[in-house]
Amino acid sequence: MSDQNATLTLGDRKWDFPVKNGTIGPDVIDIAPLYKNTGAFTYDPGFTSTASCESKITYIDGDEGTLLYRGYPIEQLAEHGDFLETCYLLLYGELPTPVQKQDFDTRVTRHTMLHEQMARFFSGFRRDAHPMAIMVGVVGALAAFYHDSTDISDPHQRMVASLRMVAKMPTIAAMAYKYSIGQPFVYPNNELGYAANFLNMCFSVPAEKYEVNPVLARAMDRIFILHADHEQNASTSTVRLAGSSGANPFACIAAGIACLWGPAHGGANEAALNMLHEIGNLDSVDKYVAKAKDKNDPFRLMGFGHRVYKNYDPRARIMQTTCHEVLNELGIKDDPALDVAIELEKIALSDEYFVEKKLYPNIDFYSGITLRALGFPAEMFTVLFALARTVGWIAQWKEMVEDPSQRIGRPRQLYTGATQRDYVDINKR
Ligand code: CMC
Repeated sequence: MSDQNATLTLGDRKWDFPVKNGTIGPDVIDIAPLYKNTGAFTYDPGFTSTASCESKITYIDGDEGTLLYRGYPIEQLAEHGDFLETCYLLLYGELPTPVQKQDFDTRVTRHTMLHEQMARFFSGFRRDAHPMAIMVGVVGALAAFYHDSTDISDPHQRMVASLRMVAKMPTIAAMAYKYSIGQPFVYPNNELGYAANFLNMCFSVPAEKYEVNPVLARAMDRIFILHADHEQNASTSTVRLAGSSGANPFACIAAGIACLWGPAHGGANEAALNMLHEIGNLDSVDKYVAKAKDKNDPFRLMGFGHRVYKNYDPRARIMQTTCHEVLNELGIKDDPALDVAIELEKIALSDEYFVEKKLYPNIDFYSGITLRALGFPAEMFTVLFALARTVGWIAQWKEMVEDPSQRIGRPRQLYTGATQRDYVDINKR
């Protein structure tokens, strides 16, 4: 808390509200007593100026283009760390020692298998179901299979549920993929690392030997690190809001997955690749840039712009490098989608419309090309995002549940509907 106050004047009355300082980032004006004192609410659709919670997990400086997990820059974690180390960091707040890391890896690995009866759950879905629809259903259904980790008042059960979700998401995601292409499910192989195991469950078949390419596994792992958390975005806020009622963690993560699905959020990677295909070739780039700038045209450059980043998304830079690494490793020399992406980025970064509105490529701009090169169909892109973000959602959910001042989330509204009126009999309307 600072010794500063913010003064609000309403008519001829004045109130002081305390100002709180974070360790970095903007101060917040604590308006919790506003309604009690003034009888008024604040109005901030889309929460553009509202801090919904206090958090110690992730920090973004959108103007500088900085992203820190527990204080560590994303660039350093992506270069030197691995995904499970990042998971440990997000969940426990510190980087693990070698012993802690080994213990954590083992604990996650022990939970990778899914209750066998859950496999039957999948056959209730149509083969052409979107895998995100399957994810929402199956992850929500985990609560029906793992009752022994749904008591949110028990710290041990909270941690078991957290490890279970980090461990089982790759298995569920791979099963959703295998189901959609009619191939048998592949069980987890605990000798493989987290990302390699996931690639193996997606791309191996029982009929032949499959060796996971370590360069591709490393790229997959890095993609997971980049997506692991992003402070109070729409899906994380959804998880927190769902969890604020005391709902079990599996249900909360299912709610987060549902929110992530939208094209303005996690669905943007799929939408960005579809857009690059729609543009098709370099000759059409100008036309689409013009469409994106046209106020009367709903078209937007997918993979561009961000609510918080008003600079280059630091994750997009790492993703761009990873994209080139993957294409090189696979010997993909000519990729029309990549050519279109590079040209589009070049034009947009120098175009007055995008410069003035501070619209830069976000993580999704290059992730679609990379994931497709790794062998995933576009419908799986958001699933991979959900898989990686699960640890962030859980860390944020745990932080909220463990906060003694936590209360149910209950926003207010500005009501502009009809005032009270009397019911009219149906024959008289
Ligand atoms: N193409 C063209 N114009 C854009 C774009 C875009 N991609 N993004 C924003 N604008 C314009 C927008 O029309 C508005 O113009 P004006 O001020 O003249 O009305 C201005 O820029 C501000 O946009 P906004 O929609 O008010 O900004 P927002 O913070 O509400 O939306 C966003 C952020 C990410 C939803 C938006 O930039 C967008 O729709 N981008 C495309 C989808 C996308 O790539 N999403 C992935 C986000 S990163 C991954 C994740 O976190 O999920």
